[in-house]
Amino acid sequence: MKYPRLLSTGANNRVVAVSETEVAKLFIGDTRSDIGSEAEKMKFANTVNGLVAHFIRLDFDETMQAEMLVMERIYPIDYRAYEVEKRELWWEVFEHELEQLHKSGFVHRDIKRPSNLSGLAFDNILLTNEGLRLIDVGISALRTQVGDKLFDKYIETELQEMTEFREYFLNR
Ligand SMILES: Nc1ncnc2c1ncn2[C@@H]1O[C@H](COP(=O)(O)OP(=O)(O)O)[C@@H](O)[C@H]1O
Ligand SMILES: [Mg+2]
Repeated sequence: MKYPRLLSTGANNRVVAVSETEVAKLFIGDTRSDIGSEAEKMKFANTVNGLVAHFIRLDFDETMQAEMLVMERIYPIDYRAYEVEKRELWWEVFEHELEQLHKSGFVHRDIKRPSNLSGLAFDNILLTNEGLRLIDVGISALRTQVGDKLFDKYIETELQEMTEFREYFLNR
């Protein structure tokens, strides 16, 4: 197969498949989002645990004139592929890993897409055959960047969204 190929059009960025194992998030033209800081936030989360998709490299595609954030390619499956019991175990792992990220000073901030925006409610959480993974750290924040007040506020919101995601994911 010839790469790159379009994989998905997100709320802000297009994502292309670069190979069987890599995807690239494209930053084209005067994009408002900053590829450098997104890469740094990803790398930080990667040092804590394996929840967030692994950063691979920054690149530039001459043909598309696109800055590319290249990362691990995740193959999501439908939540309903696995039994509730199994999903409950994965939920516990997910909750624990997100808590580890919070404690280390990282908050994702895009667990749940607000209902006034297009796209699926929890489309930044992907289920794989090995459990749940997180993508899209575009609006994520580090305690060291935003300070205690904002960070704690973001954590509060994230914990509420997690409760909502739990109901959606387990769907018992
Ligand atoms: N690492 C990945 N593996 C597989 N698909 C991905 C990956 N990262 C993003 N995608 C796909 O691309 C879409 C858009 O990526 P995302 O980072 O969420 O951008 P946006 O900021 O536009 O929401 C995702 O909803 C998902 O379908
Ligand atoms: Mg997204």
